Amino acid sequence: MFITLEGPEGSGKTSVMKVVIRRLQDEGFSIIETREPGGTNIAEQIRDIILDRKNLSLDARAEALLYAASRRQNLVEKIWPSIKAGHIVICDRFIDSSLAYQGGARGIGIEEVLNINLFATEGSFPELTLLFDIEPEQGLRRIAENKNREINRLDLERLDFHRQVRQTYLQLAKQYPNRIVIIDASLALEKVIDKTYDIIKQRLI
Ligand code: TYD
Repeated sequence: MFITLEGPEGSGKTSVMKVVIRRLQDEGFSIIETREPGGTNIAEQIRDIILDRKNLSLDARAEALLYAASRRQNLVEKIWPSIKAGHIVICDRFIDSSLAYQGGARGIGIEEVLNINLFATEGSFPELTLLFDIEPEQGLRRIAENKNREINRLDLERLDFHRQVRQTYLQLAKQYPNRIVIIDASLALEKVIDKTYDIIKQRLI
């Protein structure tokens, strides 16, 4: 089982998943956690280039290729072997982040970004994608309030960019209704945690 988590900045997906994964592990499920960009040594090095605040001149297509390269490395080194060994893999961001951020918000186009990603993934999609949906204003407010979290290059984008990210995510949810499940991430943390747990549990049994 391959599950991915998606959402705009400040959707709380990472905090929610920490709790949900602990619950599932306590019940005996074997879960491998990973994230993108990154997840393996080489992919984390690619992540450093992408998120470095000094790299403001990074070209949009070069950026999309770097995300796809990081994804490929994570798939080959970690995700595929873990699935093969019978674990449940949960990845914080995956292909839909590229479609929403690079395809939609950066304006490269969903189709074009999908194509380079199909090369990277050989057409392998997650079985379940949880989309933690939140208005960008609320998400960015959460980030500003959470002083523990580092501000990265993408957090500095304009509000309009984040609106487009959200719109593209919602469009993708319509396009892939069997794979993508929307979770209202504006609700209180406990509610979001329970809902997330229920959806994953349903798919596991
Ligand atoms: P990260 O600190 O992991 O953010 P978050 O906690 O919100 O997941 O930074 C990842 C950033 O990279 C985030 O702003 C989304 C962006 N991103 C893309 O633009 N395209 C991609 O394909 C991926 C995986 C991430």
